[in-house]
Amino acid sequence: MKAKILVCFSLFAASAFGGSNLRIYPNLAACIHEPSFFSCENTAPIKNTCCSPTPGGLVLQTQFWNTYTGLERQGQRLPKGSWGIHGLWPDNCDSSFEQYCDPARQYDPAPSPSSFPNGTVIPAYKGPGVDTFIKKFSQGQLLDYMSKYWINLGAPSEGLWAHEFSKHATCTSTFDVACYGGNYEKHAEVIDYFEAVIRAFQLFPTYKFLAAGGVLPSNKTTYKLDDLEAIIKSQTGAVPFFGCANNGTVLNEVWYFNHVHGSEQFGSYKTIDSTTLSTCTRTGGIRYLERTPGSEQDASN
Ligand SMILES: *[C@@H]1O[C@H](CO)[C@@H](O)[C@H](O)[C@H]1NC(C)=O
Ligand SMILES: *[C@@H]1O[C@H](CO)[C@@H](O)[C@H](O)[C@H]1NC(C)=O
Ligand SMILES: *[C@@H]1O[C@H](CO)[C@@H](O)[C@H](O)[C@H]1NC(C)=O
Repeated sequence: MKAKILVCFSLFAASAFGGSNLRIYPNLAACIHEPSFFSCENTAPIKNTCCSPTPGGLVLQTQFWNTYTGLERQGQRLPKGSWGIHGLWPDNCDSSFEQYCDPARQYDPAPSPSSFPNGTVIPAYKGPGVDTFIKKFSQGQLLDYMSKYWINLGAPSEGLWAHEFSKHATCTSTFDVACYGGNYEKHAEVIDYFEAVIRAFQLFPTYKFLAAGGVLPSNKTTYKLDDLEAIIKSQTGAVPFFGCANNGTVLNEVWYFNHVHGSEQFGSYKTIDSTTLSTCTRTGGIRYLERTPGSEQDASN
């Protein structure tokens, strides 16, 4: 009993997400001398791309609302009282975007899309899962948090984590390997990205935002898009993108758009209005479904 308490204590003492002697942060010392601005709002060209995400300076923190995972029998369940994490995406300032930017960091077991527009195939990754990278860096608490809040649909969650890293983080300049300096440990930026995703996710507690505005999952009632948007805007200052399935009637996604001051991992986020038209009906009722019994777990501890 005593030993167990000591172990827990040492994990908390080392860092927010567990102990590691391996460095998992970039070398941003040169950023001290850079001009101060929010991404996509700079008036002069960005010289040091480790200091501010560029060209992907429109940063989207994206979340899912699913009612089941399909892998409940293996223990993969959704976090009670919370939406699930999708990812953190670097859109360009004009809302276009890059994807799968570094073949040397392709860890996605199921690339989507499976090829580039020019026909070049993106090969499926067959190596050890990104969860093994997290273990290599002794980030047990990070892995535990991701396992509770970053949940895949119909496939193991580590596939989603790898997909998000290789599709999006490889196109985010502040996660370039070159930003990690001379003491770079392989995969450090993967861990750094996962921590950044969680940090950004925690800025936008969608379930609680909506609940505080009187909107809870219900299989008996429907909601209006205008009301959902107004509730979020009252807390973040901006209208997010809401996504719906079933011809715009079943709520299943939210994207928060931001400009970032500094790096994507440590900088300050400023919400801006969505640049993407909602796929939810503006006139009809929207269902925010209750989860399937047995598909949720208490994720708070
Ligand atoms: C196809 O497009 C990808 C992504 O833009 C690029 O990396 C690759 O070099 C292109 N291949 C050819 C044969 O043009
Ligand atoms: C989808 O929604 C639109 C607009 O609400 C409606 O006109 C159309 O009939 C719907 N389509 C189906 C297949 O339900
Ligand atoms: C709510 O409805 C959805 C869609 O029909 C269903 O999958 C889910 O199990 C329902 N949840 C509850 C608690 O009845």
